[in-house]
Amino acid sequence: METVINIGYLVAAVLFILGIKGMTKPKTAVRGNQMSATGMLVAIIAALLDNNVVSYEYIIIGVLIGGAIGAFIAKKVAMTDMPELVAALNGIGGGASLLVASANYLESQKLAEMGQFVPTYDWSIAVILSILIGAVTLTGSFIAVGKLKGKIGDAKQVRLFKWIVKLSLAALLAGAAYFAAVDPVNSDLLIAGLIVLCLILGICLVMPIGGADMPVVVALLNSYSGLAGAAAGFVLGNNGLIITGSLVGASGIILTSIMCKAMNRSLTNVLFGGSMSESSGVSRSENDAFYEGKVKFSSADELAMLLDGAQNVVFVPGYGLAVAQAQHATRELAGMLEKQGAKVKYAIHPVAGRMPGHMNVLLAEAEVPYDQLVEMDAINPEFSQTDVAIVLGANDVVNPAAAEDPNSPIFGMPILDVHHAKTVVVVKRGLSPGFAGIPNELFIRDNSLMVAGDAKKVLQDTISALKDL
Ligand code: TAP
Repeated sequence: METVINIGYLVAAVLFILGIKGMTKPKTAVRGNQMSATGMLVAIIAALLDNNVVSYEYIIIGVLIGGAIGAFIAKKVAMTDMPELVAALNGIGGGASLLVASANYLESQKLAEMGQFVPTYDWSIAVILSILIGAVTLTGSFIAVGKLKGKIGDAKQVRLFKWIVKLSLAALLAGAAYFAAVDPVNSDLLIAGLIVLCLILGICLVMPIGGADMPVVVALLNSYSGLAGAAAGFVLGNNGLIITGSLVGASGIILTSIMCKAMNRSLTNVLFGGSMSESSGVSRSENDAFYEGKVKFSSADELAMLLDGAQNVVFVPGYGLAVAQAQHATRELAGMLEKQGAKVKYAIHPVAGRMPGHMNVLLAEAEVPYDQLVEMDAINPEFSQTDVAIVLGANDVVNPAAAEDPNSPIFGMPILDVHHAKTVVVVKRGLSPGFAGIPNELFIRDNSLMVAGDAKKVLQDTISALKDL
């Protein structure tokens, strides 16, 4: 039976890996998701075959209740609330590892008293890691949910939180070392104290981070929840849990690093730099002075005329497209242009918007064909042959300062080279900066026009104007 169970875990692991691979492309993402879900089913069945299972009744009740809640939430959640859901699930995962390892500790303690269990270093290290990482993930993730929902604002006491984090880490290291090396059996009080400290640490780690940096933090906490799960796998001697936990831990940290790289920021800067717009942004008057008299304002009618003769059009979506919920209007305009013989593409920057894959998800919702979504590195050489690049609520990801101004806070961040297009039309409500809080020279370049207004409204007006031509 043990061999059958381990083969089940192996099959599940292969399905997870193929699933993750599938999710790297919009076209294969749904199939990738289904593969991962099948892998999870196989892993659950394998775990249930284990003869250590004490009560199938409780498990079935748990699966029914948990499954019903999961299905209800998955059906109900709006696409834009996905980061909150992922953060909450990470927290629950961390909490589960904390509970499993704590229960195992209490049970092993009893067995040790009866002389039926001798703790090993492997066991005590796995128990303490699972408990501690699980507790940090639990509170950290729910603070992230609060920040994403806008219920918890950006903390002003960044330095204080940093000190609490440093002191807690030192106390944790000492406590965990004592537990693992000196007395892993009679340490209930120590463990309880460390759990409380970790719950506080989770809060203090996430509190000073700027609300807009939460997607990076959620990816990091996702990795923590995986590590806690893998440690719980070692505690239980469950290979399936070790494999899945490690996969989640590794993919979470890779995603964190991709996001940091695409923003040209170090993880330390995200974690301890406070709110980016506060630390690097310009004042309102400096922003206005930068643009004064230099922006060429245009209109939806003029945009329609420009598009009427265009052969190659690239839409460049950004955070404002999500705010305006303009994805359907974008798709409608693109469809009209295609009917009139133009080639249409969408340029996707890895950190456009506020969560990984934000633009892909929005455009998929409007049923934009996957092959029209072109990643940054592939589309950049094409901008010089583009007749009209329409920037829809994007700002930082098209700011040439990132490539040209070494003093810019975003210098080094890879950008979409829309400024190479023959004409760039920027659609946004006004001259407010984006996430980085800095002005954008693209808006005052010779080949740029700005149509001021909500992206959805401007696109709808352009569609009407195009119909009237
Ligand atoms: P941003 O630079 O944030 O700019 C968005 C622009 O949208 C704003 O300048 C705003 O200008 C405009 N806007 C807002 N509402 C609008 C509406 N209803 N209609 C039209 N325009 C509207 O966006 P971006 O170019 O997508 O860049 C993303 C930024 O977020 C980057 O700095 C990135 O590093 C950061 N970030 C991304 C992530 C991920 S994972 N994607 C995570 C954390 C941080 P107006 O107010 O003038 O309209």
